[in-house]
Amino acid sequence: MKSYIVGNWKMNFTVGESSVYLHKLSARIHAYRDIEVVVAPSLVALQPLSLQIDRKKLRLAAQTANPRDFGAYTGEVSAAQLRGIVDYCIIGHSERRQLFHESDKFIRAAVAATLRNQIKPILCVGETETERTFGETFDVLRDQVLGGLSEVSAEELEKVIIAYEPVWAISTTSGASMASPDDIAEAVKFIRRIIADAYGKEISKSIAVLYGGSVNPDNAGAYLTIPGVNGLLVGGASLIADQFVDIIETAKKVKS
Ligand code: PGA
Repeated sequence: MKSYIVGNWKMNFTVGESSVYLHKLSARIHAYRDIEVVVAPSLVALQPLSLQIDRKKLRLAAQTANPRDFGAYTGEVSAAQLRGIVDYCIIGHSERRQLFHESDKFIRAAVAATLRNQIKPILCVGETETERTFGETFDVLRDQVLGGLSEVSAEELEKVIIAYEPVWAISTTSGASMASPDDIAEAVKFIRRIIADAYGKEISKSIAVLYGGSVNPDNAGAYLTIPGVNGLLVGGASLIADQFVDIIETAKKVKS
């Protein structure tokens, strides 16, 4: 199975900076047959970067999408408008859920809208610190995975990528808040189990499940060798070319 290294740039870089950075990245990586490298720049940079990007090396993702195709939704951008510009779209990132109140209903519809518009959704799921403390991790994962996928047919499921991102482990430098490989292995196994129950064993083995949360060049190798993990969703470290390239090279080593 392919591995995915996805860089979530969040609200960083101007359009000009994004273009320069993409150029720099592109010059430093190769076209890998078994690793898909994806970057998610800010919305304004997507269209110009789509004209610049070398698709053999890199693919573009949006960071969210509105599920409705067109209409009176001031400030929003739909999956229908992103069609042809991006290959992937992050859906349900914890920052979108928490800061911008994207509901389960919105996320479910957004997953369906991306698929309808030939865009592969990267559905983010993960428990908060409080939910973890109260022992609710598995309930949260079940709700978010089954909720997010509830409009997805078995045939469409192979185009979906799931990213397990424990909210307490995002953007931290403190070792104590880093997710351990055991934590991640257990969560990823559970995610595959609920997919197996809902859609069958076969697809639960072939669906890509990524890990995200404070990934850096030092821990990427350990995370990529966790059974059942097919790649990484990288935030902060994806903004520094040396670090992102290092993570891609680690993925290549793990593959070979
Ligand atoms: P981080 O972000 O790598 O900076 O923790 C990951 C994410 O939010 O997707």
